[in-house]
Amino acid sequence: MTTSEARGKIVVAATGGVAALKTPAVVRRLAEAGYAVRVAATDAAYHFITKLSLAIAAGGEVFDSVSWFRPDGEARHIAWARWADLLLVAPASADALASAATGRADDVVSALTLSGVPQVMWAPAMNTAMWRHPTVVRNVALLRADGHRFVGPDEGRLAAKDEGVGIGRMSEPPAIVAAVDEWWAARATHDLENRRVVVSAGPTREYLDPVRYLSNPSSGKMGFAVAAAAAARGAEVTLVSGPTELDPPSEVTVIRVTSADEMLAALEGPFNASDLLVMTAAVADWRPQTTATEKRPKLGEQLTLELVRTPDILTSLVENRGQQVMVGFAMETDQGVERAAAKARRKGLAFICLNYPTEEGSAFGGDDNQVTLVLPDGRSEAWPPMAKRVVADRLLDRALPFLKSGS
Ligand code: C5P
Repeated sequence: MTTSEARGKIVVAATGGVAALKTPAVVRRLAEAGYAVRVAATDAAYHFITKLSLAIAAGGEVFDSVSWFRPDGEARHIAWARWADLLLVAPASADALASAATGRADDVVSALTLSGVPQVMWAPAMNTAMWRHPTVVRNVALLRADGHRFVGPDEGRLAAKDEGVGIGRMSEPPAIVAAVDEWWAARATHDLENRRVVVSAGPTREYLDPVRYLSNPSSGKMGFAVAAAAAARGAEVTLVSGPTELDPPSEVTVIRVTSADEMLAALEGPFNASDLLVMTAAVADWRPQTTATEKRPKLGEQLTLELVRTPDILTSLVENRGQQVMVGFAMETDQGVERAAAKARRKGLAFICLNYPTEEGSAFGGDDNQVTLVLPDGRSEAWPPMAKRVVADRLLDRALPFLKSGS
């Protein structure tokens, strides 16, 4: 199987800040997500990260004050600005923001900004006092007004000694990649225009009594990411979600449910009118045979529960399927690919996204996911760990060819 098409071309630029230690991780993740990446660094960045670390992450030369003007006459800020779809400044210091906001061109980042890069995105990192300073606030407002984008900064532990927690920490690499991907998806063609996509997300809860339930630690993040990605690509999206803490994505119809029975009932109508169902929900497989209407008293040392199977939602939906394409998720600890392929065949899926709960990057609740895409015939493709939003777009890239044209 081929890997998905190259996404955008990005120059990642590091400026002066401790968070420059995270720049290589940002570069690697963007490359893994399919972007073509080059790296630039200001002299101040080299107080915190070596040129070699950046060059290794980039797999190529770093654009800095030494390599700026070349004997062959190439002015690198012009050549790279022409090449790039995006200049991502991570970390972005207060100084870098000020230079760009006032149109300076005395370091590689401000020179690139002035040289016609189509889009600039800043991932600021600085002390809270600096981020809140009216001058910085004014510079950020000026850059925003010029169409620049921002990701973060986040609240968290700050680098300065005894500083504690505050706003100003650079966003974590997965969040930065997600912001880049959102930008990329929004500027890409609306390839899901006129399509109806239904997504299930989160866990289900199966109540024993009014206060106790069987469930699992699914956060819903994967499904919410698929819903957001599909909406950004122009689809009309319905998200049926079990209990989660997440804010609903914009432009998405959200139906909140609790149990597996409710999830099936909520999915039926939207599914019948849909082109694509992406079933990320971690549906509980068992529910108590009866749900007590009052809280069960703590009588005796043991309690035996009678459990019955919940409906298999995919299997129930596939019975009345028309043209809908269905994609599932599976978590396996052993013989994953064969089992997942068998599941895809049994449940009528175009493909299934396999997770190994034991692997780092596949954990419930995290921002990343490591997925192996498995086709019903057993062919498979392991994807590297990526932000869930990036997995979501790749999954949609793969689902697209299964959709009937012009429906
Ligand atoms: O059989 P297993 O639970 O591993 O299959 C996983 C896939 O089936 C997921 O896409 C999940 O959302 C879906 N599923 C379902 N109904 C259930 C259990 C799982 O649709 N009762």
